[in-house]
Amino acid sequence: MMDSLQEHLTLSKDRKAHWGMVYERNALHSVSWYREHLDTSLRMLAESGVPLDAAIMDVGGGHSTLVDDLLQQGYSNLTVLDLADAALFAARRRLGPSSARVTWIAGDVLWIPFEKGRLAVWHDRAVFHFLTHAEERAAYLRQMLHALQPGGHAILATFGPEGPTRCSGLDTCRYDATSLSETFGPDFVLRDSVIEIHKTPAGNQQQFLYCRLQRR
Ligand SMILES: C[S@@+](CC[C@H](N)C(=O)[O-])C[C@H]1O[C@@H](n2cnc3c(N)ncnc32)[C@H](O)[C@@H]1O
Repeated sequence: MMDSLQEHLTLSKDRKAHWGMVYERNALHSVSWYREHLDTSLRMLAESGVPLDAAIMDVGGGHSTLVDDLLQQGYSNLTVLDLADAALFAARRRLGPSSARVTWIAGDVLWIPFEKGRLAVWHDRAVFHFLTHAEERAAYLRQMLHALQPGGHAILATFGPEGPTRCSGLDTCRYDATSLSETFGPDFVLRDSVIEIHKTPAGNQQQFLYCRLQRR
């Protein structure tokens, strides 16, 4: 049980240290989750129909190119949040002067204070499936419900039912569309889901599930 503030802070520091080490030890384009473009996320975002000035946050965005593609498509209200300073630094450096058009936050999604109801879109690829404790998932859901406006969209990519059970030295949970949707509960309606096989830079295959849930 995560029953004290101290324990919460310790877990958060451990997570930050772990991911810092992962980025330190691996070349950026060799990490297993790397993809040149997050095509399925981009498609689901387009289908959500949010306007170009909608507030969009990439939670655990790392050094993903999603933000580059969104800027290029004209989205103007973008935030990238990640625990790992090295990943944010790499993304900012890649974007160059355009990085000034993005809000960058170094922090833990389970813990950082969010402005209530600001977000139209919460995007998470490959973060939620690392939450293997019910308390962590409950904290994540509380954070999402606080930050996401009614009618807002959560685009979530996790390992699928036949995806890996471990990644980057951590245990993971696997989901199908029904179990993921049930995990987020009655505040959300499942609008879309798709299974995708991700080919890692090392040539292995990982099964991912992408879902778009809409807050009621
Ligand atoms: C597997 S990587 C995925 C990165 C990116 N979403 C992508 O698809 O390329 C997971 C990322 O989540 C970040 N992360 C893990 N736990 C987090 C947390 N509790 N809060 C914020 N970021 C977190 C890690 O630092 C890492 O960058």
